[in-house]
Amino acid sequence: MHTPEHIKGIKPYVPGKPVEELEREMGITDSVKLASNENPAGPSPLAIKILCKEVPDLNRYPDGNCYYLRNALSGKLQINPEELLFGNGSNEIIELAVRTFLVAGDEAIMAHPSFVVYPMIVQAAKGRNIIVPLKNHRHDLETMASKITKKTKIIFIANPNNPTGTINTKAEMDSFMEKVPEGALVIVDEAYYEYVTAPDYADSMKYFRQDRDILILRTFSKIYGLAGLRIGYGIANASVIAEMNKVRQPFNVNSLAQKAAISALKDEKHLEKTKKINERGKKYLYDKLKSIKISYVPTEANFIYIKLKDGKAIQLYNDLLKQGVIVRPMGPSEIRVTIGLPGENRKFMDSLRKIKQIKS
Ligand SMILES: Cc1ncc(COP(=O)(O)O)c(C=O)c1O
Repeated sequence: MHTPEHIKGIKPYVPGKPVEELEREMGITDSVKLASNENPAGPSPLAIKILCKEVPDLNRYPDGNCYYLRNALSGKLQINPEELLFGNGSNEIIELAVRTFLVAGDEAIMAHPSFVVYPMIVQAAKGRNIIVPLKNHRHDLETMASKITKKTKIIFIANPNNPTGTINTKAEMDSFMEKVPEGALVIVDEAYYEYVTAPDYADSMKYFRQDRDILILRTFSKIYGLAGLRIGYGIANASVIAEMNKVRQPFNVNSLAQKAAISALKDEKHLEKTKKINERGKKYLYDKLKSIKISYVPTEANFIYIKLKDGKAIQLYNDLLKQGVIVRPMGPSEIRVTIGLPGENRKFMDSLRKIKQIKS
């Protein structure tokens, strides 16, 4: 079998280790997974209830148009139903956008480090990744705008950014959007949107209402706690959505995901509980990290980017694994840890402190 060169060059996505696998490998129990930015409080209880009811109907194909979910969400967001697209996770929507709007040789601008899936999908479509390093851990929108050419078809902005948890402000986005010509689609990935507390967080819906070429991505995988069901959505003007719909598989969102998402949307209580857990966990981790002089980047999401001095992130990752704590190494000196439940955060900090004491 001959694999084309542009596919050979793709570095496969490495998912976080499942807890069961780690425990089996290490011969341990009670480990905690803080590697994939999932909701540590679990799915909404309302979603769990509806899922049990739906199981006997699994012999049927799902509603290919997500009719009820579309209506529920368009009502909540005060937009037209045709301005929404649902996907098998927001990952699928990234893929649909690239397959729809970018052809071989076209360019996509993105930051680094940012969500690792963007460059993989662009490369798989034979596009050119134009990478702009973060500035002070945030998207450098000025430099990103300066890289726009006639070949630029897509610009990715993760806001908040993964792995740094940083945001871009209203003023920065306003100035950036002024420089983006028609024909380049700005994808604002807001997977962690619901966690943001910063008052100057950019309002991407404003550009959508101005009928700009923008695709806003949101997901049910993070604050809604439905990562295992794979469901996310895109918001864009109806013509952008209509084009993307042409390349979408007819039954791309499964029926359980649709039902659970409708219930999760209604569950304000679960959302508020999750936000509280996150805010408290964030404060705890900030305090404890400061107390052992480990630096981190303040976050607007449900994870923290931790910066070590020694270029030994992989070693720390492995040492933490041995203690039953799964985090995500992000670079030679950086790890990303998801904010967990109080006991999980404590276990992470206790393990980190132990490892630090042994090493020094
Ligand atoms: C910035 C960002 N975008 C998108 C996703 C994908 O989420 P989904 O589970 O909806 O595919 C993630 C998941 O980690 C993410 O961090």
